Amino acid sequence: MISPDLPASLKGALDAKLEGLSRSDVAARAAAISKNYREGGGSGTIKSATDALAYALARMPATYAAVAACLNALAEARPGFAPATLLDIGAGPGTATAAVAEAFPSLTSFALLDANPALRTLALDLLGDNPRFRGASYDAGDARSALAKAAPADLVVASYLIGELGDADRKSLADAMWAKTCDTLLVIEPGTPAGYARILALRTQLIAAGAHVAAPCPHAQTCPLIPPDWCHFSQRLARSRAHMQMKGAEVPFEDERFSYVVLTRQPIARQFSRVLAQPAVGKAEIAAKLCTPYGIAVAKVPRRDKAAYAAARHWRWGDAVMAKSQDNPGLVIEP
Ligand SMILES: C[S@@+](CC[C@H](N)C(=O)[O-])C[C@H]1O[C@@H](n2cnc3c(N)ncnc32)[C@H](O)[C@@H]1O
Repeated sequence: MISPDLPASLKGALDAKLEGLSRSDVAARAAAISKNYREGGGSGTIKSATDALAYALARMPATYAAVAACLNALAEARPGFAPATLLDIGAGPGTATAAVAEAFPSLTSFALLDANPALRTLALDLLGDNPRFRGASYDAGDARSALAKAAPADLVVASYLIGELGDADRKSLADAMWAKTCDTLLVIEPGTPAGYARILALRTQLIAAGAHVAAPCPHAQTCPLIPPDWCHFSQRLARSRAHMQMKGAEVPFEDERFSYVVLTRQPIARQFSRVLAQPAVGKAEIAAKLCTPYGIAVAKVPRRDKAAYAAARHWRWGDAVMAKSQDNPGLVIEP
């Protein structure tokens, strides 16, 4: 399991780049970039080195935290997974690459690609000092054409990318990403209904192309959630002083909401259930909304079942748990 917080070296490199710049100017640029994203625009407003830094200071801690949470879920679903090669599509400032490097010491080859020159330059600066990334490649260009030339990789990641594409491009990119996936594909989006809908469409498309689902779903059937409900998770992360200044924030943490899917070439061995919301811990029982291999259920774990209750007290939103198993013999699943 890796920490949701940026590695110290990366945080230090970001803070160092802020030295000598006007913090209020950088914060104003970060606010303009965020506003554009909230209004449905993409990363087109990130044009200069300062824009790229503003974006990274404001958003990299949160996207890193979301990627870290997904990688932890992936590692839990596939305990022996040891990828040697990574392809990070729409890599931006190198967020997902940095998280994947933390999660998988087995990686020896890192390939990144992105259309934004300012973000690419920043990533090369941020990652450049770390010997782990010596030999990494970072291709500049549109994902659709750059992918055609990319070598296949054990692990392919697209973090907060597909929302920047139109429907038709997103579909063809999904096929192209899967074609480059030797083993596992991780796609992450903001945890909004729209982000979830994009993940769901990609999931459906690639299951039809032969993909298996490793996380978060415990099955490859149609998603059982009924709108307006949607599948998303939340990761808390610490905010540094610079991060708080950038966002005009008052509390030293934030919660990043995200939706994701991990698709694999081979089916995974374990059958688990996914906790879909923070469980309610009551005096008599713990109630947890789960996605199970059989559909959505509310698991009720009575306090009198001491072992099961003690195990369920550790359940958190997003966890993979064994329902109806030897781990939790007292667990009752109520569909
Ligand atoms: C929201 S940022 C996410 C960056 C990074 N993956 C992260 O998680 O921090 C989206 C990235 O996708 C890139 N992007 C958007 N459309 C693209 C395209 N058609 N081809 C390549 N990169 C693209 C942008 O330049 C930007 O770096």
